[in-house]
Amino acid sequence: MDNFIIHGPKSLRGEVKISGSKNAALPILAATMLTREKCEIKNVPDLRDVKSTFELLNYMGKKCFFGFNAFSVEEASALKHHAPYDLVRRMRASVLVAGPLLARFKKVRFSLPGGCSIGVRPIDIHLEAFQKLGAEVSYERGDVIVSAGKLKSARLKFRFPSVGATENLMMCAALIKGTTVLENCAREPEIADLAGALRCMGAEVEGESTATIKICGRDVLKGLKYSVMPDRIETGTFMLIAAAAGGKLTLLNTDIRLVKSVARGLEKAGVKISPPGGRGGGITVETDGLRPRPVSVETKPYPGFPTDLQAPWMAFMARAKGESLIHEEIFENRFMHAAELMRMGADITVTDRKAVIRGVERLLGAPVIASDIRAGAALIVAAAAAKGVTVIGRIYHIDRGYEKIEDKLRLAGMKIERVKA
Ligand code: UD1
Repeated sequence: MDNFIIHGPKSLRGEVKISGSKNAALPILAATMLTREKCEIKNVPDLRDVKSTFELLNYMGKKCFFGFNAFSVEEASALKHHAPYDLVRRMRASVLVAGPLLARFKKVRFSLPGGCSIGVRPIDIHLEAFQKLGAEVSYERGDVIVSAGKLKSARLKFRFPSVGATENLMMCAALIKGTTVLENCAREPEIADLAGALRCMGAEVEGESTATIKICGRDVLKGLKYSVMPDRIETGTFMLIAAAAGGKLTLLNTDIRLVKSVARGLEKAGVKISPPGGRGGGITVETDGLRPRPVSVETKPYPGFPTDLQAPWMAFMARAKGESLIHEEIFENRFMHAAELMRMGADITVTDRKAVIRGVERLLGAPVIASDIRAGAALIVAAAAAKGVTVIGRIYHIDRGYEKIEDKLRLAGMKIERVKA
């Protein structure tokens, strides 16, 4: 197992290239199961979760190639309909093969993904929606079996705008004749990216980025050539690392419109963001690295403040000149990073879904442990501002979501190295 060793504080300068979005790439890769034809997808980040998807697709009978951020998928043999526990437990997003496989073969069996450190994360919303399309759900030895004699288009409303359920149902509906109307959909930009991919495959999709999505499916879908959108969570993370470290950092291959809520928060905290507002292109983050003003946030479905940036935001607020509040509305157990930040001198009280952060003058480097992808990112934000040496353990979590993060940060001036534990 590797560790990161970070010597701080050190201001950052220069440019960082943002990678393709993990959370957009995973459903688009799952969507390749909808067709027999060849699919070529570019700007796919080289991450552990993408490699897990590579293994899953290969196991299911696809033949994948991945290199230089280009992923190609061909159908090598008859596809299996069973995603086993060993592959699903590594990555919750494996559940996204359910929609495409159900649509194509009218039957899919997959291992229940189980909980993770940030919450129970059930899949009831996905399963209820499959039932509305005419499927039956049963359970056997920890697996879910979803099957249907015939799937039919329908109008259905999600009880919560789940990102994964919206994606799974869009993919399933893309192979069902007639118009399926999904209400109370998630509006995350990754869903619009999936809609773009499904349209390239020949489905008619309307209304992505709104709460109601209409999909007019086809009997057969075509192959796909597509380029994945920039990673908005990586973008927000680098904005927060730059804001905590101080200096002037420009993020390339990304777009300010993807991170409006974070940019607004940073501006309130006293960080200069350009371009302010809405133009495409890069983003420059500039600050003197002094203590920010306290800014409270509540995590919400998009366009609200993203839960995936809550932990990095907490790390940034740990040095604020005053008290701020975080309300985590999406996941019930997403404050594991608070205890690690406290080891670095932060003053935080967590009660249920709320955290009160009383900003301190200085954070101090310490040995800490990443408990999930974004908790790990939060420790890098804290280490960027902390005095002394921070050693971050279990960085395999960080590797699930951030491509070559230490190379990017080192180029921008951070003293960071990866060492074998
Ligand atoms: C996706 C993202 C993840 C992000 C999350 C919320 C991917 C690969 N992952 O996860 O990074 O943190 O959106 O923005 O895109 N829920 C249920 N029943 C369900 C489904 C969800 O109760 O059937 C609950 C979850 O437990 C959670 C909330 O709804 O509390 C949001 O989950 P969801 O939007 O589905 O997140 P994911 O798609 O798993």
